[in-house]
Amino acid sequence: MSTIESAQSEKRLFPPSGAFVQQAHLDSEGLRVLHDEASADPGAFWLGQAEQLVWRTRPTQGLDDSQHPFVRWFADGRLNLTESCLDRHLHTARRNKAALIWEGEPGDHRVLTYFELHREVCRTAAALLRLGIKTGDRVIVYMPMVPELVIAVLACARIGATHSVIFGGFSAEAIRDRINDAGAIAVITADGGYRRGKVVPLKHNVDEALQHCPGIRHVIVVSRTGQDITMHPGRDHFYSDLVKAESGHCEPAIVPAEHPLFILYTSGTTGKPKGVVHSTGGYGTQVAFTAKHVFDLRDEDTYFCTADVGWVTGHSYIVYGPLIHGATVVIYEGAPDTPHKGRFWEIIDKWGVTIFYTAPTAIRAFMRWGDQFPRGYRMDTLRLLGTVGEPINPAAWMWYHEHIGRGRCPIVDTWWQTETGGIMVSPLPGATVTKPGSCTRPLPGIAVEVIHKDGTRCGPNEGGYLVITRSWPGQLRTVWGDPERYRKTYFGDLTVDGRSVYFTGDGARFDEDGYLWVMGRVDDVLNVAGHRIGTAEVESALVGHPHVAEAAVVGRPDELKGQAIVAFVTLRSSHAKTPDTADILKAHVVHEIGAIARPDEIRFTDALPKTRSGKIMRRLLREIATTGHAVGDVTTLEDLAVLTRLSATDSDEE
Ligand code: PRX
Repeated sequence: MSTIESAQSEKRLFPPSGAFVQQAHLDSEGLRVLHDEASADPGAFWLGQAEQLVWRTRPTQGLDDSQHPFVRWFADGRLNLTESCLDRHLHTARRNKAALIWEGEPGDHRVLTYFELHREVCRTAAALLRLGIKTGDRVIVYMPMVPELVIAVLACARIGATHSVIFGGFSAEAIRDRINDAGAIAVITADGGYRRGKVVPLKHNVDEALQHCPGIRHVIVVSRTGQDITMHPGRDHFYSDLVKAESGHCEPAIVPAEHPLFILYTSGTTGKPKGVVHSTGGYGTQVAFTAKHVFDLRDEDTYFCTADVGWVTGHSYIVYGPLIHGATVVIYEGAPDTPHKGRFWEIIDKWGVTIFYTAPTAIRAFMRWGDQFPRGYRMDTLRLLGTVGEPINPAAWMWYHEHIGRGRCPIVDTWWQTETGGIMVSPLPGATVTKPGSCTRPLPGIAVEVIHKDGTRCGPNEGGYLVITRSWPGQLRTVWGDPERYRKTYFGDLTVDGRSVYFTGDGARFDEDGYLWVMGRVDDVLNVAGHRIGTAEVESALVGHPHVAEAAVVGRPDELKGQAIVAFVTLRSSHAKTPDTADILKAHVVHEIGAIARPDEIRFTDALPKTRSGKIMRRLLREIATTGHAVGDVTTLEDLAVLTRLSATDSDEE
């Protein structure tokens, strides 16, 4: 893919209101000063930002890039990040301020002040220590969105254990693979969780996974739903039994800045998810800096992010970022349409939410449901809106602006990735004139470029590869257990000025004003409803089914979800297709990965188009999935007849 077409043109401009600018942490002048500081001396700039954290040994070193692409930041600093999130607030007016406001799906709620959250984290941390879990161990967290999820994550950080949160929608198979890859010794889970009124059997999934995880010594179970579960004596413990014996005191484990705070698995271009490793000091600095400035966080704010802590957005902008700044964070357990389609707006009014952060796919669903749902609520406390996860189409941006922001709230369209740890490109709400659909400009200290394959920079409005040319503190440090995969995946072919640069996997362009427009992934990773799914992962699940000989998975543009998953499947000759084959295969993918990877459509074919070297021609499949037929260059196609047959494939969507 040497050139990437890009045609969107958006002329509307939205400057921040005078009232917003007046109270903002940063106005355009303040932003200019930060940009100047950051470009004059990036190391010193980030060392300055690191001051937002509580350090036991303050760092004197900024970036150490001597082992490029393996980097270290603030390497001589020592800290425990929970002191920045919790302890620092206990001697201030925030001591009895709400840290977490939790809203359960059935309508129950719970509020934890900073003092209470600190105590619960310390009790849980002490319980982990008592079980023999220690600094450097890996602990899996597989939970619904309940306060104990935040507590569990922070308790791991408190004792220096590296947490790896697995989204509650993943299947037993996915849990098993992640536990084994991480070499985890404990799992913190719940009996179940509520989703659209139904109970998700989390403990049951863990039990199934653990049949193949010999390294797990302890399972800690939070009671949420009260459903029947099996407890394995010696291995399984009820959370409430463990913590009731503990006092609210637990000394934090002081770790070097580079200590791995967490591993988060994400999809890549191969079948095996990557364990993205984040550091403590660098990651903490990135999220502290961005949470403060992108969300303009202040003490009066009540901040509601609709992400799940199972994704990086929840790590950075539910847990660490907002708590570092002593904000009040609203978390919601369930689905946005349960029990009614105005649930988010009801929560905003119920708790006086001032900042709301969600995904474009959710906004498109709200649009489809209709204006009447938000119209029924005042939402007059809102002052700032954000989006993340995928490009937001200008129509959805305008809807968000008018129907949720009521024309009053700036929108921050934040571009970043699991690997970047924190926001990289975004408007600053008191400083940036926004254009619907653009994530605007890189933040101070962030060096983003759009380049051709040969490393030359693209001109204005010329599409190319989105790369990051200088390390930033929140950069992933490696892929867990596979440094070579880290190097190959992120610092592979693309170079700028002779040096390998971080490739994001995205295609993008800068417009004539230097505004960035992200066009989506150019690799074999799909973005379905704001979640990354590797086509290879779904393919590997499909070919794992005894009826399937070969499978190729591609994305098709989808109005609601961004992309839909289309699978081309050839069955083994021994298995004839029956009316329910497509459903069986879809269920198989759900079983192997989780419902988020369920193919939207399965097309059966007797052969897949391949090049002479045997590579599946995905470009053709994408065309067929999108338009129903393929045009363009087919000269390398091994068997031209396959193409004709494919256009007329047997789809389960008829
Ligand atoms: O393609 C980009 C898209 O989401 C990818 C990162 O996905 P993930 O690691 O799951 O993290 C999502 C939450 C940070 C990116 O490579 N993406 C994310 N935010 C935006 C976006 N695309 C366009 N605009 C955004 N604001």
